[in-house]
Amino acid sequence: MKKILILNGPNLNLLGSREPTQYGHETLADVEANCQRVAQKWDCQTQAFQSNIEGELINAIHQAGVEFKNGSLAGIVFNPGAYTHTSIALHDAIKGVDVPVIEVHISNVHARESFRHHSYISPVAAGTIVGMGTKGYELAIQFLLD
Ligand code: DQA
Repeated sequence: MKKILILNGPNLNLLGSREPTQYGHETLADVEANCQRVAQKWDCQTQAFQSNIEGELINAIHQAGVEFKNGSLAGIVFNPGAYTHTSIALHDAIKGVDVPVIEVHISNVHARESFRHHSYISPVAAGTIVGMGTKGYELAIQFLLD
């Protein structure tokens, strides 16, 4: 059975209580459970990982590269949080593995501060979903599995 990695970066562990007008009321556990429910429709599993540490996210991407190569992984749904706007290391990690990555942002980053308008992830992502709330994760799974 194939698997999708649901990867979340810094501060996304605070979903539910963090700036609910931007990010809504669902917790990360709610989001991860919804992802699992959607993936099951395609007989697929999800594996969820969140970290506030850039290097741990890089390691997770490298591991995903190994699993994609051996056929057990279909892709990564990745919300890199604020590292989106800063991390050349995450850009390089994605570039270094041959895994489809769908970049997801809960809020519409383009309608927010200008420092959120640039993404180091978008040029190496297979696609980007922005501003569709936590539904964006489900849409990304759908895209990877359809
Ligand atoms: C975010 C947008 C980022 O700018 C922000 O730093 C986050 C969350 C989003 O999901 O809308 O942490 O990635």
